[in-house]
Amino acid sequence: MIVLRRVERSARADGAAKPFLKWAGGKRSLLPQILPHVPERFGTYHEPFLGGAALFFHLARTRAPFRARLSDTNARLVRTYLAVRDRVEEVIARLASYPHDPEFFAELRARDIDRGSDVEVAAWFVYLNHTGYNGLYRVNSRNRFNVPFGAYARPRYCNPALLRAVARALADAHIELGGFERVAARARRGDFVYFDPPYVPLTATSSFTAYTRDGFGQDDQERLRDVARALKCRGVRVLLSNSSAPVVHDLYRDGFELVTVAARRAVSCRAGGRGPVAELLIR
Ligand SMILES: C[S@@+](CC[C@H](N)C(=O)[O-])C[C@H]1O[C@@H](n2cnc3c(N)ncnc32)[C@H](O)[C@@H]1O
Repeated sequence: MIVLRRVERSARADGAAKPFLKWAGGKRSLLPQILPHVPERFGTYHEPFLGGAALFFHLARTRAPFRARLSDTNARLVRTYLAVRDRVEEVIARLASYPHDPEFFAELRARDIDRGSDVEVAAWFVYLNHTGYNGLYRVNSRNRFNVPFGAYARPRYCNPALLRAVARALADAHIELGGFERVAARARRGDFVYFDPPYVPLTATSSFTAYTRDGFGQDDQERLRDVARALKCRGVRVLLSNSSAPVVHDLYRDGFELVTVAARRAVSCRAGGRGPVAELLIR
């Protein structure tokens, strides 16, 4: 049996834990609109589309102690969280040894990183995330990271105080690789699940293609809706984020409450892509 320990109160006392990765679709700027929908009390907190984990870190600062289960399908991302949780000093030492220059960036980017240890993966991930163009995570068909050098003056890829605060916040969290469906078997009455999937494209029609750029298509969106509905029926509190595409309104028309919020995009490749956009919170 897996025993879940609780996110330690020290994470709250420190007050510094926050996302240590830039993440497309990260929820930091939307937190004021999300927080009113977080239950006062919950059993275990589940975040199965982890990304930069903005809501988790906020709750770790303000609500600890609580039990947490965090997961994602990006193996390098999950290994990064595990290494920061369990071997943060080694991650920091490795990052401190990395120079900020385009040749090193190119050399690191080309490494066959999946053969490395979790510490090597974490340093690779954090470095490329902070020095690559716009904080993007993008891979080619062979899973090779292919974002170009970002040319920032002084990127803070080695931030020991932040990484240590993150390690404390994660200390007792259960972190695993896997799809969002797992939460269906794991969540219990009284738990709280925040689902922040790749969004339905705003331009999607009711027959939008099964393959989006994120590899999360219509079937996935429907399965997610079904998992959320089943959890609600079992007394699990759920909150979902998605775009305000008409398809999303259709998906969640029956049995869900939809709240429209205005979001600012944190990572965008388009110069004009940082203005407010309407999104949905669904519960
Ligand atoms: C919008 S991001 C989450 C952002 C995060 N909430 C934050 O604050 O930064 C979506 C995440 O879902 C993950 N993902 C994609 N497909 C998935 C699936 N089928 N199951 C679980 N996670 C998935 C991606 O790897 C990505 O990290």
